[in-house]
Amino acid sequence: MAIDVARARAETPGCRNVAHLNNAGAALPPEPVLEAVVEHLRREAAIGGYEAAAEQRDRVEHAYDAIAALLGCARDEVAIVENATRAWDMAFYSLQLREGDRVLTTRAEYASNYIALRQVADRTGAALVVAPDDEHGQVDVAALEGMLDERVRLVSLVHVPTQGGLVNPAAAVGAACRAAGVPLLLDACQSVGQMPIDVAAIGCDMLSGTGRKFLRGPRGTGFLYVRRDLVESLEPPLLDLHAAEWQPDGSYRIRPDARRFENWETNYATKIGLGVAVDYALGWGLDAIRTRVYALAADLRRALDALPGVRTHDLGEERCAIVTFSVAGRPAAEVVAALVADGINVSLSPVSYSRLDFEHRGLDDLVRASVHYYNEVAELDRLIDRVAALG
Ligand SMILES: Cc1ncc(COP(=O)(O)O)c(C=O)c1O
Repeated sequence: MAIDVARARAETPGCRNVAHLNNAGAALPPEPVLEAVVEHLRREAAIGGYEAAAEQRDRVEHAYDAIAALLGCARDEVAIVENATRAWDMAFYSLQLREGDRVLTTRAEYASNYIALRQVADRTGAALVVAPDDEHGQVDVAALEGMLDERVRLVSLVHVPTQGGLVNPAAAVGAACRAAGVPLLLDACQSVGQMPIDVAAIGCDMLSGTGRKFLRGPRGTGFLYVRRDLVESLEPPLLDLHAAEWQPDGSYRIRPDARRFENWETNYATKIGLGVAVDYALGWGLDAIRTRVYALAADLRRALDALPGVRTHDLGEERCAIVTFSVAGRPAAEVVAALVADGINVSLSPVSYSRLDFEHRGLDDLVRASVHYYNEVAELDRLIDRVAALG
């Protein structure tokens, strides 16, 4: 079923104010998400925070079922946390790396993940090794496969990078990791919500995601999936009385499900809102969302590449909703500022967010325009006209 764009826009209050092409930053939430969050905040104010959480327990718990349905996993394999970075960190810092161990990453690696990888490598003497790209600019699966030996304790793969339309071949990497018995941690922060994600089909053992980007959920929400047979072998780097229980003999027992990666105090309103956002995405259908956003982005790339002095920089055989480009002679920050001043929300992709890729390609900061299914062609045309005037 094709997306009913008129309905999508009518249900998105922000569409009345801006041409929002910063969906890879934070998408505009739909009315039901906004209502759910505000309604819960009102209940907290009306009857008390703990009391509102107890009253709305089913809605809070539903967020786990919604994420499980989105990813094709079980609810006890899901932790809901503050953002994708914290989700990723909780999985990564649970690994006990030692000197001689290796972690494989790729050129699409995101700065926060890389910094954590570097910190642990520096602390432990483990090696951080970067797998090369293939001729399409996506991870070279055959080369990565050849690097999977008994020293490799983890493969860290960014599904869709912050700086472009590349969709890394996650299922092929998953198959290689499965065959080698090496866990795969997939950063699905930019892919979840814009395409179907099935953890079993991909073959990833852990996956991190965020609420505010293509899922259109509230800010400050994220989640972690950990495959059930792995959960109990991962000791979270931080524990509290939600993740573990203090025993009468003075010891503690870590809970057996993925909520061991959460902490006790949390934002109930946004947790409910995240569940509503996931239901809302599933209501449209992730296949239909993917079809529309890929097509809009492909048209945008074609139009930008046709402008003198303008070049897009998206890699990979499969390209998604993120479009990055440069305008000759204009710093990217200046282009972003000009577009934002005209009510066209785009963002900056700085070199420091993904150095392995930017430096390998010799690129400077880029302008990022990221579409969603509620964007209309007229908004893309406005962007194209404005960029043409700058070029
Ligand atoms: C590829 C990628 N991974 C991880 C993150 C971090 O997500 P969060 O800000 O929710 O922690 C981002 C954020 O832009 C991202 O683009």
